Amino acid sequence: MIVTTKELFKAAYGKYAIGAYNINNLEQTMGLFRGNLDSQAPFIIQISKGARSYTHKLMLEALIRAADQIFPDAIFAVHLDHGDEETCYDCINSGFYSSVMIDASHEDFETNIAITRRVVEAAHARGIVVEAELGQLGGVEEHVSVDEADAKLTDPKKAREFVERTGCDSLAVAIGTSHGAYKFSGSQGLRFDVLEQIQKELPGFPLVMHGSSSVPQEEVERINAAGGQIKGAKGVDENSFRRAAELGVTKVNIDTDGRLVWTRVHREYFRDHPENFDLRPIGKVFMAEYAKFIAHKNEKLGSAGRL
Ligand code: G3H
Ligand code: 13P
Ligand code: NA
Ligand code: ZN
Repeated sequence: MIVTTKELFKAAYGKYAIGAYNINNLEQTMGLFRGNLDSQAPFIIQISKGARSYTHKLMLEALIRAADQIFPDAIFAVHLDHGDEETCYDCINSGFYSSVMIDASHEDFETNIAITRRVVEAAHARGIVVEAELGQLGGVEEHVSVDEADAKLTDPKKAREFVERTGCDSLAVAIGTSHGAYKFSGSQGLRFDVLEQIQKELPGFPLVMHGSSSVPQEEVERINAAGGQIKGAKGVDENSFRRAAELGVTKVNIDTDGRLVWTRVHREYFRDHPENFDLRPIGKVFMAEYAKFIAHKNEKLGSAGRL
């Protein structure tokens, strides 16, 4: 059943975080639903602009509607990940998405507020909830001075003003993470001190942590042993999710780790079955491994067993 993130966040706030997982295709969709049901967890399906155009936006919608029928006990929100204004309106008007993210965080503060405010008005008129972002995620280089690095993180005081003026329902914050497999260059790490200050300014308000893949070393090693060349990858410690949840993080975005599962399964399968040319046996392995991966993340997030 499709629900809004608002309902999910209300139940989770301060106790656990909901996993927000990106999907692009059929096998990911099946593995995602199975893994969440195996672990009895509510979840958020995230669809990026790139995912919408990978096949067709209607293809992903059809896959999710079918999965909803195949797995009638699943409780999930359908969310646009990192939307621009135009894509947000398209999703709002589609009648399918229960939640959208407007990401105008690269704009200056006032422009970010103006764009976010417009999207919030359009979304709320149709009962759809909005995630917005303030601050700049990752890619902080070692030569960047401490002051400069801090300037990219979410400013707690500004966060409160941003939420009050935009009316957004949740806020993605920059607290040291970055997208992809190469996080925390140099001495950077998760900034719980900044998160704590943000929660003080916005008590009870749902926060979102992007760039939360853990990039398991063991996964990278298996990929490289099967011919991959992923060097120096680093991610977020999975054991930090619960502490983040206690500090107001209700949604944790994970995409890269799922891509690593896909890469490991396919590299190992082709290495070990050079005679194979049927796409189904490998697809079956991937769906099962993806479900296992999702169930494991939900245990770490504390969302497992909450259905
Ligand atoms: O934050 C971005 C997500 O990992 C989605 O990536 O835009 O390549 O689909 P994508
Ligand atoms: P990762 O690249 O760490 O998986 O982050 C995904 C994300 O933030 C999607 O919005
Ligand atoms: Na951003
Ligand atoms: Zn993101």
